[in-house]
Amino acid sequence: MIGIILGTRPEIIKMSPIIRYCEKNNIDHFVLHTGQHYSYEMDKIFFDMLNLPQPLYNLDVGSGTHAAQTGKIMEGIENILLEEKPEMIIVQGDTNTVLAGSLTASKLNIKVGHVEAGLRSFDRTMPEEINRVVSDHIADYLFAPTEISKKQLLKENIDANKVFVTGNTIVDAVQQNLKIASKKTNVLDGFGLSPKNYVLVTSHRAENVDSKNRLANILSGLKLVKEEFSVPIVFPIHPRTEKMIQKFGLSMEGINTIKPQGFLEFLQLEANAKIVLTDSGGIQEETCILGVPCVTLRENTERPETLNVKSNVLAGVDSSEILRCTTEMLSRNSNWENPYGDGKAAEKIVSICT
Ligand code: UD1
Ligand code: UDP
Repeated sequence: MIGIILGTRPEIIKMSPIIRYCEKNNIDHFVLHTGQHYSYEMDKIFFDMLNLPQPLYNLDVGSGTHAAQTGKIMEGIENILLEEKPEMIIVQGDTNTVLAGSLTASKLNIKVGHVEAGLRSFDRTMPEEINRVVSDHIADYLFAPTEISKKQLLKENIDANKVFVTGNTIVDAVQQNLKIASKKTNVLDGFGLSPKNYVLVTSHRAENVDSKNRLANILSGLKLVKEEFSVPIVFPIHPRTEKMIQKFGLSMEGINTIKPQGFLEFLQLEANAKIVLTDSGGIQEETCILGVPCVTLRENTERPETLNVKSNVLAGVDSSEILRCTTEMLSRNSNWENPYGDGKAAEKIVSICT
């Protein structure tokens, strides 16, 4: 039996092809939701819209400091693993849920599969970098999305026999949902937008939105982009960002802020955007897959593949750099190749696990 552990928006999305594959092929599994994300738009909307079965367990841990959140998740997972006794668990990505899941299972001598292994920003001030490094070094099966991520794992002396290059399950998720998205929803009409005539923005990284200075710089950059290109700026606001904007008393005037979108709606917004400005990890990949230019509001990225194929550029948060990078990306051709695989990552991963 496989225990699939998830807890946040991107994990639900990137695990969805694995859950679907297990369901379709009658593979013995259960889904454990830690409840790290819990607001309807960050959690349940994805189970509802992606037709995923409800998780068998939900720990409902909610938000907290890193130690409190990780500790609560570990305790909850331990109880369930002791009862269910799966042969292995799978975690995906770099959140506190991933760290807690891999640490707890490995101490119970339950095999750990890490989906999206080998990503590195080389920035240890990011909580996600710590989570990635620790989980990779504990894991028994490392599912690297690309040869670049495999190479990094080998550099860190991880046994090559444990590493499998599978592609990223986000390609599976995009392929599975893009068609459904265009049939089911017309989100552009709803927001009064026309294709290729708006800029889509997301920002939620702690290092950006928890700093008044960095967040204010990003907002100034967005205003410069809006003035230069005379296009609406559409910004689905992550709850963390909403909280910090209120706390810092920053103005969102001139920016179309909307609530976090369901995956089908968000895919439509992304696929039709003129350009996407983001500090999200998954969105750097999705824009690359969809052929939409991306400007990353960070100084580094653990997705070098997107820089190599030239679908993405690192702007940091300086407002004039944001404008310069947006202009540069808009002058590039969008005919790069998708480096993240053929959309069969879930099948490859589950086949290796069973
Ligand atoms: C987490 C992950 C991050 C990932 C992101 C995906 C860690 C350390 N961070 O960041 O890697 O990119 O999820 O979106 O695991 N909140 C709500 N409702 C929710 C969830 C959060 O209101 O459903 C608010 C709370 O005020 C909370 C804050 O957002 O304190 C931050 O939530 P948290 O899960 O700690 O981190 P994220 O910023 O969401
Ligand atoms: N996403 C979504 N609705 C939104 C914003 C993002 O469905 O309003 C999806 C997006 O398509 C991607 C994932 O959420 O698949 C990225 O999550 P996030 O940016 O929160 O986390 P990260 O990838 O940075 O860990």
